[in-house]
Amino acid sequence: MKLLIKGAEIIDPAGKNAGRNDILVEDGVIREIGKPSAAGAEVLDASGLKAAPGLVDIHVHFRDPGYEYKENVATGLRAASAGGFTSVVCMPNTKPDIDTKSVAKYVNDKARAAGLGRLFIAGAISKKREGAELAEIGDMMNEGIVAVTDDGNPVMNAQLMRRALEYTKMFGIPVMSHAEDKNLAGAGVMNEGMVSTTIGMRPIPKEAETVMVLRDIELAALTGGRLHLTHISSAESVDAVRRAKARGLRVTCDVTPHHLVLTDESVMGFDTATKVNPPLRDENDRQALIAGLLDGTIDAIASDHAPHAVHEKEVSYDDAPFGLVGLETTLAVLVTRLVETGAAPLELLISKLTSGPAAVLGLNAGALAPGAPADIVLFDPAAEWTVDASKFFSKGRNCPFNGWRVRGKVAATVAAGKVVFKDGAFV
Ligand code: DOR
Repeated sequence: MKLLIKGAEIIDPAGKNAGRNDILVEDGVIREIGKPSAAGAEVLDASGLKAAPGLVDIHVHFRDPGYEYKENVATGLRAASAGGFTSVVCMPNTKPDIDTKSVAKYVNDKARAAGLGRLFIAGAISKKREGAELAEIGDMMNEGIVAVTDDGNPVMNAQLMRRALEYTKMFGIPVMSHAEDKNLAGAGVMNEGMVSTTIGMRPIPKEAETVMVLRDIELAALTGGRLHLTHISSAESVDAVRRAKARGLRVTCDVTPHHLVLTDESVMGFDTATKVNPPLRDENDRQALIAGLLDGTIDAIASDHAPHAVHEKEVSYDDAPFGLVGLETTLAVLVTRLVETGAAPLELLISKLTSGPAAVLGLNAGALAPGAPADIVLFDPAAEWTVDASKFFSKGRNCPFNGWRVRGKVAATVAAGKVVFKDGAFV
């Protein structure tokens, strides 16, 4: 099993292997970068393409078990591969929740059967994600969970959050916080501000996020535990993380592509694909998130891929569930809206989609170097295409970028040394 990827321009977040080179892959591992011999190898011509480590998404919802009509492990992994992702971390808000070893095993078994890239699990912090009692975290470690989170729900009880931060220290995994004060957020459906007032929609103040970000940072200080703040969305959150890092606390965070490229003005079209939690904020917040990426405050970009069925989203804005799908558009949306506009360099974005998230969770992923797993994405940053949600490999159609003309196209995805996706189709 030898594969020679020829002539790609390599983006190596670690910086050592950048430049135009050939990549030799054997038995699922990158063997050599340079001018290795093609003897006995299948050759993949990648001239004109960029090669980066397979992308890593540490926040996806694959809805399996329990909501397979929205997505399942196999369709989720297909969407990931099509988007250039070779490692994903699944959230535990399934039915039943991923709060025991047996449910985690079920998900791991399904991922193995799908045989497309690597799936990791974030187990629940609390039983049924109800926020009352710690879940069987130690037992779930035996199924390889890489973090705990009640994502979808915040942990409203600060004492339980403290216990989670203390207990997980023993296992060396972070607590991933969905930072939202449920009482402050209330029945809101969008960001509180000029736009919500203008169009008369129930608001969610950004303080619903801020107070929990600040609380969790203080609990990380108290316990010495590892805190990962997921999908932060406001200028205040970026600022809080920046100060926490300056204090030397073990705090990391991620941001979504949609919070980086959209604002609450998008809600004015009442497209329920823009209804997401945390809500799309204002331009000042968006600029602060980009600044946080540029100065290293933000460690990773994660899609929060959250598929819902068409009938669930084709209702009034108030009644629609929160969530949008992102795995198949993340790379192109970022290239188009951040790289092409000069807001952020491509290499930086790639690091936030590879080495950055891998480091947050300690995954052996996100590197393009000899000895690393042969997970590679080949893409053409200049290729133009039109987003058509009806053609997604995901079951989700709830995409606010539908119809966008974008640049940046995945040409091939290599997972564990095998070409799994090429020229728009599965191999
Ligand atoms: O928009 C969201 N969708 N935010 C969440 O926190 C949960 C997610 C979902 O599961 O649909």
